[in-house]
Amino acid sequence: MEKREELYRGKAKTVFLTDDADKLILHFRNDTSAFDGEKIEQLDRKGEVNNKFNHFIMSKLEEAGIDTQVESLLSDNDSLVKKLDMIPVECVVRNVAAGSLVKRLGVEEGTVLNPPVFEFFLKNDALHDPMINDYHIMSFGWATEGQVEQMKALTFKVNEVLSGLFDEGGMMLVDYKLEFGVDSQGRIVLGDEFTPDGCRLWDKATRNKMDKDRFRQGLGSVVETYIEVAKRLGLEL
Ligand code: TMP
Ligand code: ASP
Repeated sequence: MEKREELYRGKAKTVFLTDDADKLILHFRNDTSAFDGEKIEQLDRKGEVNNKFNHFIMSKLEEAGIDTQVESLLSDNDSLVKKLDMIPVECVVRNVAAGSLVKRLGVEEGTVLNPPVFEFFLKNDALHDPMINDYHIMSFGWATEGQVEQMKALTFKVNEVLSGLFDEGGMMLVDYKLEFGVDSQGRIVLGDEFTPDGCRLWDKATRNKMDKDRFRQGLGSVVETYIEVAKRLGLEL
């Protein structure tokens, strides 16, 4: 597989074209971003850790019957993925109140949400990823009604698979963000990444934060904690 020119540079990953028109390479950088890119730092080994962590989680999701973009791990920082036409919305499920939900509704952090809450956000840093609903997505043509329903169903299916996985590792999956795209056959496929950069994980016993909130809140030991999360799931990094 030959890496060709850069297609897109995000805040933490760069996407490259390849010699196969249906395949891309995701390159995970050490850049770590928060607050819509206001705070960015390079953290040693973060790209490698997230690339391998993402491959591990996506493989678990594939085993559970969820279609993902990931094809194979190419190197420490690179993964080969299927080319998708990405839908510009973020799908968030929350099992426990934290982050923007706590700020928006004034509820107590740590409140268990039963049923879990589903939210859509528009992927737009300049607008600070505003919350949107199904109607915005359909009216502006970002996705069809059927695609909206599929994204919700798949995001909840991921919750079942991953809540159990993290629970076995002594962690709570507090919330997470997923992004989907449409493949060459018109199917909805899970894209982007699932890493501790895009979810909240708390230690079940101590409620210690084990995700990017360590970076957002300046708690330190960011990459070391991601490695500990992986280890608890059986992945040595
Ligand atoms: P929030 O509490 O800031 O709305 O975030 C909810 C979850 O989604 C949290 O695990 C972080 C993740 N997330 C991202 O990874 N990127 C984003 O741009 C947003 C809005 C949320
Ligand atoms: N992913 C977004 C950023 O890099 C939001 C966040 O995680 O805080 O700024």
